[in-house]
Amino acid sequence: MTVSERKLHLNAFLAASGHHEASWRHSDTEPERGVNIQHYLKLTRIAEKGLLDSVFLADGYWANAGTLEPFTLLSALAAATKHIGLIATVETTYNEPFHVARKFASLDHISKGRAGWNIVTGAGPAAEQFSREQHPEHHERYESAEEFVEIVKRLWDSWEDDAVSNDKINGVLIDVSVFPTAPESTYRIIPLMIL
Ligand SMILES: Cc1cc2nc3c(=O)[nH]c(=O)nc-3n(C[C@H](O)[C@H](O)[C@H](O)COP(=O)(O)O)c2cc1C
Repeated sequence: MTVSERKLHLNAFLAASGHHEASWRHSDTEPERGVNIQHYLKLTRIAEKGLLDSVFLADGYWANAGTLEPFTLLSALAAATKHIGLIATVETTYNEPFHVARKFASLDHISKGRAGWNIVTGAGPAAEQFSREQHPEHHERYESAEEFVEIVKRLWDSWEDDAVSNDKINGVLIDVSVFPTAPESTYRIIPLMIL
């Protein structure tokens, strides 16, 4: 790659009031910004107009009261924008691959290919939210996460691109000859398919 071909990619890390932990106390902010779609819409439109590559939402299953759930929020932003990438943070430790694969596939359809995933393994306090006795150790979370991501990728590719034939004349919706097979897994029972 020559120097002239190099590109700088810019991403906006959206927040409710700001990134300082006391930003919600600033006199110019409103406490309900974290659940206000107009706030996120305004920031995302500015980012899109400024030709940034993407907007990004951090997330974690602890102490996040007062902020919107990322897939719900990004779906709304997708419908109101055209070009900007939409990145959701999603934990592998406290999710199932099927749900995550399906939500990203849906966001990708809604946004016409603009969905992105910040893959994280989560932090300790999440264990309590899910009634688990303890948060898994670092190595276990990351091993499990690798497998989780592999399964999600398999799910996204579980049908050949031309498997959905929508053949109205012959009454064939999906070509089942390309039905996916389940790979072996250490951590989970593997689901088979999403569209
Ligand atoms: C820019 C940035 C954003 C991050 N956002 C999140 C987040 O939204 N949720 C989360 O659980 N962790 C987030 N993290 C933390 C990482 O997932 C990771 O735990 C951290 O970088 C420490 O690495 P380790 O888990 O290997 O110790 C973020 C880290 C960085 C650098």
